[in-house]
Amino acid sequence: MPPSTSPSSIRTLKLPSGETVPVLGQGTWKMGEDRRRRDDEVAALKLGLDLGITLIDTAEMYASGGSEEVVAQAMEGRRDEIFLVSKVLPSNASRAGVKRSCENSLKRLGTDRIDLYLLHWPGSVPLSETVEAFETLKKAGKIRHWGVSNFDTDEMEDLVGLADGGNVQTNQVLYNLSRRGPEFDLAPWSLKRGIPLMAYSPVEQGALARNARLEAVASRHNATAAQVALAWVMAQPGVIAIPKASRQEHVRQNAAALDISLTAQDFADLDRAFPPPTRKRGLEMI
Ligand SMILES: NC(=O)c1ccc[n+]([C@@H]2O[C@H](COP(=O)([O-])OP(=O)(O)OC[C@H]3O[C@@H](n4cnc5c(N)ncnc54)[C@H](OP(=O)(O)O)[C@@H]3O)[C@@H](O)[C@H]2O)c1
Repeated sequence: MPPSTSPSSIRTLKLPSGETVPVLGQGTWKMGEDRRRRDDEVAALKLGLDLGITLIDTAEMYASGGSEEVVAQAMEGRRDEIFLVSKVLPSNASRAGVKRSCENSLKRLGTDRIDLYLLHWPGSVPLSETVEAFETLKKAGKIRHWGVSNFDTDEMEDLVGLADGGNVQTNQVLYNLSRRGPEFDLAPWSLKRGIPLMAYSPVEQGALARNARLEAVASRHNATAAQVALAWVMAQPGVIAIPKASRQEHVRQNAAALDISLTAQDFADLDRAFPPPTRKRGLEMI
């Protein structure tokens, strides 16, 4: 049986603002799409909170707001425990659009503030306008911090060159053992500046949970392939993993992955099975 107890402690890292967040969060894409699954989704998120996985990631896009409503239910009565992340679509990233989207997200989330509000991916609205809108929301207390998602290194360079662009708190990107492209330059660039990467799809939407090469390493830890995939992501400096799990057993296993210490042999075997990048590749998106 894989370890599935609660972790002995939740490791944390610091955002540029100095605020501490757990290196493991809970994703919510595809939640809220089917009313019949809602009770299970809420129960899974609540269990995650009980186990100390207090960072929750959602977006206005997910189930057209339905995911934010599931998150609202899971947060009931315990908002202050949670570091809440949501996202605005690039098509809503204008001055007026950001304000409207944020108000709508706050309503669906049943809260007065979002802890970290991200631009979901780069779009056609000038970035300076979106940054200005984020800063206005910060002053109004509607969001506490802002960041971006799916930004490659050149886009991050442009961002930090803008007025207030240096206030970016994270870049949420596709990163897992089978998607190691960011290691070539985005990850070192971000680490140098103290901007954490938030790794989405850390188990490649479930595909890595069925990977035989991961199972070989997992067997040495009495763990599952998915747990090793997660432990590997969380072992990378300056990286937060946000797996989505709607089954309680998966939530328990993901929390327990915090207690897996991969050895030098494990890392070497994983490098052979999933080689790191040797040249720049454009940032991939799911
Ligand atoms: N910014 C962006 O553009 C972007 C894009 C994609 C995702 N995201 C965010 O990142 C989150 C995570 O990414 P994702 O949902 O695409 O993929 P993921 O977390 O890599 O994979 C989710 C899938 O893996 C399964 N799973 C979770 N834990 C497992 C375990 N311990 N053992 C076996 N299977 C397990 C889940 O099953 P069950 O649900 O059945 O438990 C689900 O089918 C999203 O939910 C979303 O919040 C952001």
